[in-house]
Amino acid sequence: MSGGSASWIAAAGRPLTGRLRVPGDKSVSHRSVMLGALAEGTTRITGFLEGEDTIATAAILQRLGVRIEASGEGVRIVHGVGLHGLRAAEGPLDCGNAGTGMRLLAGLLAGQAFDSVLVGDASLSKRPMRRVIDPLARMGARIDSEGGLPPLRIHANNVLQGIDYECPVASAQVKSAILLAGLYASGPTTVREPHPTRDYTERMLSAFGADIDFAPGIATLRPGRQLMAASVDVPADFSSAAFFLVAASVIPGSHLVLERVGVNPRRTGLLEALRLMGADLVVRAAGEQGGEPVADIEVRAARLRGAAIPEALVPDMIDEFPALFTAAALAEGTTVVSGAAELRVKESDRIAVMAAGLRALGAVIDETPDGAVITGSGFTANATATPSEARAGRLRGGQADSRGDHRIAMSLAIAAQCAEGEVRIDDIANVATSFPGFDALARGVGFGLRLA
Ligand code: S3P
Repeated sequence: MSGGSASWIAAAGRPLTGRLRVPGDKSVSHRSVMLGALAEGTTRITGFLEGEDTIATAAILQRLGVRIEASGEGVRIVHGVGLHGLRAAEGPLDCGNAGTGMRLLAGLLAGQAFDSVLVGDASLSKRPMRRVIDPLARMGARIDSEGGLPPLRIHANNVLQGIDYECPVASAQVKSAILLAGLYASGPTTVREPHPTRDYTERMLSAFGADIDFAPGIATLRPGRQLMAASVDVPADFSSAAFFLVAASVIPGSHLVLERVGVNPRRTGLLEALRLMGADLVVRAAGEQGGEPVADIEVRAARLRGAAIPEALVPDMIDEFPALFTAAALAEGTTVVSGAAELRVKESDRIAVMAAGLRALGAVIDETPDGAVITGSGFTANATATPSEARAGRLRGGQADSRGDHRIAMSLAIAAQCAEGEVRIDDIANVATSFPGFDALARGVGFGLRLA
């Protein structure tokens, strides 16, 4: 969505200290405007992520005839049009960089009485869409693509059938697309997953009054009920907090508290992986927000050891691997990631791009088809030294390319805090898709980070 020319200069700052609250959850924000649009009545959303991805989804819904007021930072008032109130838009609907936006909207639009075209930026235009096209086609949808890639041309359709679908990949986006299409089907829709994934769509459909049963790994939606408007208070995004959990773990002398972070167990695999590596994390439950458990998470720098990351954790930390790779590159010993081939079809090929970026800073990392073997530099053995005293195991300065992948840009910025000299990180503009204001927040707690 954004141009690719912006770069950061990142270098060791000071130990990270303080308390911070990261922006709203991206997954919950996308779903909140979609369900608010399809509901009867007015949905009030607070904590909405003001990121390019979620703003793109809201803009698409506006083009489909939904009135959405942005009445303050993170506030959206969505005037729902009901399940059958959307109207055809003129021209293509631009999802920007957002796989979640495109895949969920494909499900939502598959049962409408009008045609739509979904397009995305250069990265999204390379991401696989058969995973949603195939099950939606089995429900009776007609979707044309470019050999399984966007644009998606979705034909008008009033006759979807329910299905009982066994997902070949563990993907909350695929599950959600099918469930949203299921709202328009003539019979019940069941989705079964090879491993449970984030269940925000199920929980929010239930909160909006849909007839849905779900348990980890399975969901059944029965169509026929109207959705009713609800209030959604979006919790802070665990995946954004993750960068600070890793940064404070690896930057000597750090001590941070991340406030009121969403800790849905389908998102928090990184906590377990970091603990396996010896991280010092204290999670204090802080009640619920928007129907989701939230917690304050306290993190201190720690001596990290490499670990074999259990494959069963992969879906619960799928967005956290770029940051985990950085932690592994600075730990003592070897970290093995496997069973994570999905990383190759995210906003970039996250295995290849992280390996190239970390190697440019002197890290030792071998790619495998479904993961990586990372030999740590041992820098975290300096956990109690000040950043300037800590020498052993430092990465080196240089230049690294995030290839337009927001999570890779932020993960390389962490690695740069542990490097000798400056690191130039290129193609960082897409950080604004999920974490607007990351650099200012990071500087505020001690990062050495500025625009080039
Ligand atoms: C998401 C699901 C995950 C995740 C993405 C957000 C969602 O994708 O990587 O950032 O909101 O449903 P997959 O479903 O492709 O695993």
